[in-house]
Amino acid sequence: MQNKSKELEVAIQAAQEAGKILEKYFETEILKEFKEDNSLVTLADRESEEIIKKIICEVYPNYCILGEETGYTNNKSDYTWHIDPIDGTRNFANGLPFFALSIALERKNKIIVGVVYNPVTRSLFYAEAGKGAYLNDKRIFVSKDGKDHAIITVDPGKKDEDKKFRRILQHNLPATFVCSIRDLGSTAVELAYVARGGLEANIQLGLETYDFAAGTLLVQEAGGKITKLDGSPWVFPENKFIASNGVFHDLLVAEVKKQKAKLKI
Ligand code: IPD
Ligand code: CA
Ligand code: CA
Repeated sequence: MQNKSKELEVAIQAAQEAGKILEKYFETEILKEFKEDNSLVTLADRESEEIIKKIICEVYPNYCILGEETGYTNNKSDYTWHIDPIDGTRNFANGLPFFALSIALERKNKIIVGVVYNPVTRSLFYAEAGKGAYLNDKRIFVSKDGKDHAIITVDPGKKDEDKKFRRILQHNLPATFVCSIRDLGSTAVELAYVARGGLEANIQLGLETYDFAAGTLLVQEAGGKITKLDGSPWVFPENKFIASNGVFHDLLVAEVKKQKAKLKI
């Protein structure tokens, strides 16, 4: 990308430094702990978040930061960095190379910078509002495939009802609607691959902003479409949405609505 903003350069630098930490610990007997919500955290998550915050704070001491492992720092700025130091920790801890760190900058409900980095596959995805999406410095675009060749992923929400809805979609969408449903185990990676044209759509049912913030900008800047589940306009930080290549978006919205009715049965 020509003319990267300072913010994007700093986010990329932070991603690359944190990526070295993830590489160092990947496929080692790393210490694992379970958090209160039963999700996994490792020493690599904590060290990755620490270095990302350090690099960003040195340049932007007054910007707000929301990091998954350390919560909010400073909340009196129009700018907020949303940081997931490892998205896909379960994969990471099990030696599965489907994970990434995710860094996004929000200004007044708009994501203006997004970086998703998987150091194992050396995939550096980044985007800036109005300037396109890139993978390793090459411009990327969503796929042109229609629903019959589509691969879709569905990410969970936290509530029981959202988890149940996910199972309904995972079970019913392939049979009735698309070619295949997968679960890559990392929201950031899934959204990045919608942007890259490796997946046709991703459905989000209620995760946290740091999980999807950077990925949503990648999808939009790669020419994709994001709406709320009912097809109405999506605005960050709404955490239930459909992100797709746009080719069969309206059909997918209609199908998701139809499947939602099964929740009440
Ligand atoms: C997880 C990933 C995964 C999603 C999980 C998230 P984490 O994030 O985004 O795709 O299905 O619900 O918790 O915990 O590995 O950062
Ligand atoms: Ca996450
Ligand atoms: Ca995480």
